[in-house]
Amino acid sequence: MAEPLQPREAVRRMASYSPPTAGRRGRLRLDFNENTVGCSPRVLEFLRKHLDEEALAVYPEYAEARRELAEFFGVSPDQLLLTNGTDEAIQLVINTYVDAGDEVCLLKPSYAMYRFYAELAGAEVREIPYETGTLAFPLEQLLAAITDRTRAVLIANPNNPTGTGASVEALARVLDRAAHAAVLVDEAYYEFSGVTLLPLVGKHPNLFVSRTFSKVYGLAALRAGCLISQAANIAWVRKGQSPYSVNAVAALAARAAIRDQEYIRGYVEEVRAARELLSSELDRLGIPYYPSQANFVLVRAGDRAVWLRDRLREAGVLVRDRSYELPGCVRITVGTREQVRRLIAELEKIW
Ligand SMILES: Cc1ncc(COP(=O)(O)O)c(C=O)c1O
Repeated sequence: MAEPLQPREAVRRMASYSPPTAGRRGRLRLDFNENTVGCSPRVLEFLRKHLDEEALAVYPEYAEARRELAEFFGVSPDQLLLTNGTDEAIQLVINTYVDAGDEVCLLKPSYAMYRFYAELAGAEVREIPYETGTLAFPLEQLLAAITDRTRAVLIANPNNPTGTGASVEALARVLDRAAHAAVLVDEAYYEFSGVTLLPLVGKHPNLFVSRTFSKVYGLAALRAGCLISQAANIAWVRKGQSPYSVNAVAALAARAAIRDQEYIRGYVEEVRAARELLSSELDRLGIPYYPSQANFVLVRAGDRAVWLRDRLREAGVLVRDRSYELPGCVRITVGTREQVRRLIAELEKIW
């Protein structure tokens, strides 16, 4: 019998990543940091109005989406690339700037897809741990880890799963230190923290900022995101992007989603109130956690982490065990106060 085909060395060596996405519908989804009530009803209205046979028959066009999204983000259309979620933005930045053997700096723990795409490209990954005890952004350690061989630095702000953030000033120091490298600041949870590097795009030619429609906008199923940088960078990155990587429904939905900012403001306010409620309830129950700037809270469940996830699942509440990267930690997405009350009611029964 013929030998099976062998993949590239980088594929053989990379760690697998298969998030637990099965069987989530109908449960209280506090496991993926999504919008827990769904997108603005105006998005569905807009889709109903614009979707017909022709809209589905033609290849997608992005000019309107790019113009409207660029205006919304306060940049010019040639500074913005519509992407198939943040994931494609990460992959494109790596594909554009990183060769096999090049150095990529990441933080640990952070969003798994940074390592995924860096390893897939055959890069040499350097991981800098978040501060022990506080999980604060390890600025000095990161600055020290950046070398002349560093080709990319990927940072989530606020970070997943820690919920901790970095200041604009700290990130500006990273941009200066890594002036020869692409620095991606992934602002997937920006709406909950209010901290953004977008105003610095004109000043730093190595800065890339990504935004997503998967979190506060409630469109994770559609896969839409944006990558923003100086026009010359975006031109190079676009050169390596498949011409139709974002589907037409996603492009339409993204346009509709940014128009209803009242809905987004209302949801963000609700999440902030729910985050406070969750914090005070965890205090009352004596369960320690890390203060968060995002729509999730990392809870320190000790040796009961996996047990807690499984008991909550039996009660129809999904949370994410992170003990494989932070021993004893469980990440809980924050949605509405009503959802927090349901979670707490279940927690009280089992804790
Ligand atoms: C930091 C961070 N970036 C990006 C994403 C995913 O974004 P997208 O759905 O836009 O690919 C996540 C999802 O968990 C995340 O935590």
